[in-house]
Amino acid sequence: MTKNTITIFDTTLRDGEQSPGASMNIEEKIAVALQLERLNVDVIEAGFAASSKGDFESIKEIAKNVRNSSICSLSRCVESDILAAHNALKDAHKKRLHLFLATSPIHMEYKLKKTPTQVLELAQQSIQRAREFFDDIQFSCEDACRSEISFLKEVAHAAIEAGAKTLNMPDTVGYRLPHEIGEIIKELSDFIKDKAVISVHCHNDLGLAVANSIYGVINGARQVECTINGLGERAGNCALEEVVMILKTRKDVFDKYGGLDSKINTREIYKASKLVAEVTGIRPQPNKAIVGKNAFSHESGIHQDGILKHRETYEIMQPSDIGLVNNENLVLGKHSGRAAFRDKITSLGYELDSNTLDNVFERFKILCDSKKVVYDEDILALITESNASVPQVFSLISCQCSSTSNGLNVAALSVARDGEVRSDCAIGNGSVDSILKAIERVCEISGRLLDYKVESVSRGKDAMANVVLKVSFNDSRAVIGHGKDLDTLLATAKAYINALNSYLRMEKFLG
Ligand code: KIV
Ligand code: ZN
Repeated sequence: MTKNTITIFDTTLRDGEQSPGASMNIEEKIAVALQLERLNVDVIEAGFAASSKGDFESIKEIAKNVRNSSICSLSRCVESDILAAHNALKDAHKKRLHLFLATSPIHMEYKLKKTPTQVLELAQQSIQRAREFFDDIQFSCEDACRSEISFLKEVAHAAIEAGAKTLNMPDTVGYRLPHEIGEIIKELSDFIKDKAVISVHCHNDLGLAVANSIYGVINGARQVECTINGLGERAGNCALEEVVMILKTRKDVFDKYGGLDSKINTREIYKASKLVAEVTGIRPQPNKAIVGKNAFSHESGIHQDGILKHRETYEIMQPSDIGLVNNENLVLGKHSGRAAFRDKITSLGYELDSNTLDNVFERFKILCDSKKVVYDEDILALITESNASVPQVFSLISCQCSSTSNGLNVAALSVARDGEVRSDCAIGNGSVDSILKAIERVCEISGRLLDYKVESVSRGKDAMANVVLKVSFNDSRAVIGHGKDLDTLLATAKAYINALNSYLRMEKFLG
């Protein structure tokens, strides 16, 4: 790592998970962490160990599974938080603690009710205590970009003296303009010199998170905190894929600043984006830079003509740079064998172990029986589903329901639990209502449906439906359920049962 390599600190699993409705279960978090490792992310902020038992357990599991990226937990400047992070990260190959404390006048006065002197002392004491367990400590001045620069310098000095190696300067409320962030980082960078790494963590409330991060980097920051698809609190965080592709695509500019670049394997970006969209149920908007559905499609005749004559007329990046491959000429169908299927998976950029390959292949064959053309998107959906699948307590055996323009909707279904098959039926206001009620009867649980989305996985009238729903069972924390099927109502039943399995898994972890 040269002094101009930008450390990519991914916080999809912590700040990203704070997006409304983005909660992930433990299997999903591990799958995301492994994909971040494939991307070659330097630091993965896996959660906030002290915030919940679920976060603690998932950090612990991620620490056991990931070898190449450093695993990090967020922590307040509180002894019990530091200990929780230490316990969660015991098995990590490389670990980091991320301490934070607010430094802006508004946060210190109204939220912390502390004087600047108290904040300074608490920061220093906490870093010193954390040094007993961690070598690599990052300290964040929360709301740094609305703090007094003279106070930021005092805190930075104290934090470095106490042992912090990275100083993060969040624009917590997404308030600053690029040139302002540039001035703050430049002043701090001149003051700190190379005694610590300066980091930027920009929120996107004014749509400037990426631009602000880039200005931070140009002015001396050597770490960028970001998330896949720009997920995060409120309007989100700086999008990893955008900042990384800016560094790559405008190499000519960054070479003038000493060759600023990241170590990210950009060919893993598309898969990371797909996976995060799938497990959170939050898809990037179609015109989202880099990973939006339309980011590489050319609609107008003039553009298409230009692209055909010479790609660069209208394209500044190659789709393959982000791992977007178009190999639809390698068409598979019901007669395709396992070897051809494995080649297809490899050409899509995946390597599956033999059990997962068998499982995905089996489901591919079932799909081929009922669908004329199986597209790459269908296969990708099957892979994602099996990579982040939650252990099944309940599984759907059969489901039958009626749709009527003027009458009662009835659903009857059978579900298996530990080899025992149970069946029941229910009446509802519409097919979805009757199916969910029947599941609740048969599984003896009640849930509140908070969100329901349906979209097609690929193309055509016979495309698979992908249902993503959010439920709170027994009034507990909401969980997300996913279900795919050629039949939308069956996809709905599968998604509800998947959410129920996630809930039971969470309950098991939380004791
Ligand atoms: O936005 C913020 O200030 C944060 C800190 C906890 C780093 O997320
Ligand atoms: Zn944040």
